[in-house]
Parts: sequence; C-alpha cells; structure tokens
Amino acid sequence: MATFKTQVVSVAEDGAVSLAVQLLSHGQLVAVPTETVYGLAADATEHSAVQQIFAVKGRPSFNPLICHVADEAMAARFVQVDPTASRLMAAFWPGPLTLVLPALPDSHISEAVSAGLSTIAVRCPAHNVTRTIIKELGRPVAAPSANPSGKLSPTSATDVMDGLGGQIPLVVDGGTTQVGIESTIVAVRKGDVYLLRPGTITPDDIVNELGIPVLANDNSEISAPGQLLSHYAPNASVRLNATTQQANEILIGFGPVAGSLTLSHDGDLLEAAQNLFRLLREADKRGSAIAVAPIPNQGVGIAINDRLKRAAAPRGPAKPEAF
Ligand code: TXA
Ligand code: MG
Repeated sequence: MATFKTQVVSVAEDGAVSLAVQLLSHGQLVAVPTETVYGLAADATEHSAVQQIFAVKGRPSFNPLICHVADEAMAARFVQVDPTASRLMAAFWPGPLTLVLPALPDSHISEAVSAGLSTIAVRCPAHNVTRTIIKELGRPVAAPSANPSGKLSPTSATDVMDGLGGQIPLVVDGGTTQVGIESTIVAVRKGDVYLLRPGTITPDDIVNELGIPVLANDNSEISAPGQLLSHYAPNASVRLNATTQQANEILIGFGPVAGSLTLSHDGDLLEAAQNLFRLLREADKRGSAIAVAPIPNQGVGIAINDRLKRAAAPRGPAKPEAF
C-alpha cells in the first residue's frame, strides 16, 4: 500500500477545499469532517478510489459504504427518492440521517459502494466545508468513518491521524465533531421506514415528522451488513453498567455516577453522545480496563448503548450480527 506524508489542513485555511477537490478528482482519499464523525472520502463513481477505502481501513468487502451528497438533487441522480424519503430529506437534511434507498439503474456509482446490494445509503452531512467539497467535485463521495475497521470512530483530526496517518494524503481538520456518534440509518422501502442503526435522530423524531411508525429491522433483505457485534472497540476491555470503579479500571461516569472521566455530569444524553468516542479513547490511553456507568436506554441513550454494547463485545473474528 502507498505511504504518504499526510497533510493536515484546517478548514479555515484558504485552499483547503480546492486541495481536497483536486485530490478526490484524481482518485485519492481525503479524510473530511462531518457533524457526526470524520469520514474517509473517495469519489463514489471512481471504482479504484472506492477500493482503496476498503484496503486502507481493512474493511470487509461485504460492508457497504454511505454516499455523501450536497443535496437531495444529487441523491436523486442515483437513488429512487419516493415521497417518504423526500419528506425525511426535507426535515432532517443536512444532518445526521442516512437513508437506504433503491439504486437507480446506470447509477455510475462503483459497485463496491453497495457491496452487491440493490440499495445505496445516502446522507447529506451538516458540515459546510464538506458539503462545499462535494458540490465542487460535482459527484457524491463514498465515506465510511475514518478509522481502521472495528476501531473507535474518530471525532477529531488527531484521531484520524492516530489510525490512518501515513496512509492517506490529506486530512481536512474541522475541529471536534458536534454530534460525536455516527448517523441514524433508516431504510425506506415501499413507503415503510425501518431503523437499521440508532443515532441522535430518534424514531420518535421521525414519527413526529411523518406520522407513520418506524419499524424494527426484522427483514434480512435490508439489514445493515456492517453491523458487526464487535465494533468500535478500544484496546482495553470494557465493563458496562458499572456504578463503582474496580482495581485497574478507569470509570467513565454519567449523571449521578461520578467517574474519573464523565460523559455528562447533568445526565444530558446529547452531551454524552458527543463525548462518547473521545472519552473511550482517553480512557484507553490511561488504562487496561474501562468501566462505564449505566446509560438510560431511551431516546439518544439507545444509540449510546448500541455503541457501548459493541465496544464491550468479545473481540475476535468478525461475525455479522442480525440487527
Ligand atoms: O455518521 C456517519 O454515518 C458516518 C459519517 C462519516 O458520515 N459514516 C459512517 O459510515 O458511520 P460507516 O461506513 O462507518 O457505517 C455505515 C453503515 C455500515 O454499517 C453499513 O453496513 C451500512 O451503513 N450501510 C451502508 N450501505 C448500506 C446499504 N445499502 N444497506 C444497508 N446498510 C448499509
Ligand atoms: Mg464505521
């Protein structure tokens, strides 16, 4: 694999956008900030560039990628946007909601993006600079989280460098991400909405917008193949629902459970989501064992517990888990 002297360029610097666009248009990979986590971007229509994403991350080829677009019109060039999908885009884009939609024939999107599925996941990120990069490139970018496969997602340019430094030419530095965990993923199929991955946009938010229920994903045809049980794994072991700290442990607190680090003193779930990966990384640097306080399993807490469950799962050969 090629090695690079990775450049880290702030979004505030003149020329950051044009450098990113130039590299992407030449089939190179660029790490970009989004409101959720940093993404490892490639021109989604350039097969060899998309293949490099899988190589650099060590990502299994059966795990499809999200296509990031500048707006609904760009998405409509390669996926079928039915009225339900269009209402979701109008309500939540730009923002942390990914829609899995039927791919149009002759979409020009690399087959590696959808990993052989008949659907493509699309998302319009709420980060101005990254949306400008996509707009100027004029094509969608495929971008998974910018971390080695199975490891913690990156919420800063430094996190990206820790995992992928030397393997990509450019990291666009947009500071620390606001949302902190990956987007909510829903599949829209024949007007029905199925939850594939929980995030900070909750099923209640969607129900309030659409007035129709969000269904559990019990349909194997539309499962998210990347939902592996061991995922988001720090090096240290992780113990959940901890109320006290045991020997050799770093306790990450929440609300009434005080720890050496805390997700949110006030028990604020959005604040906890924003801090989650950052604190898991911090605790991982400090110790060999991590304990995490209980997080209420409601609202955004469902997404936090989903990531924690995967961080705590036994490691070893990746096995797809029905979700
Ligand atoms: O917030 C996010 O979504 C971040 C930022 C960078 O946008 N991206 C992200 O990508 O989390 P990644 O690759 O780490 O996770 C994408 C998930 C995987 O679990 C994958 O299996 C699922 O989306 N996915 C992608 N395309 C799919 C499809 N056509 N059908 C079902 N699941 C799909
Ligand atoms: Mg990921």
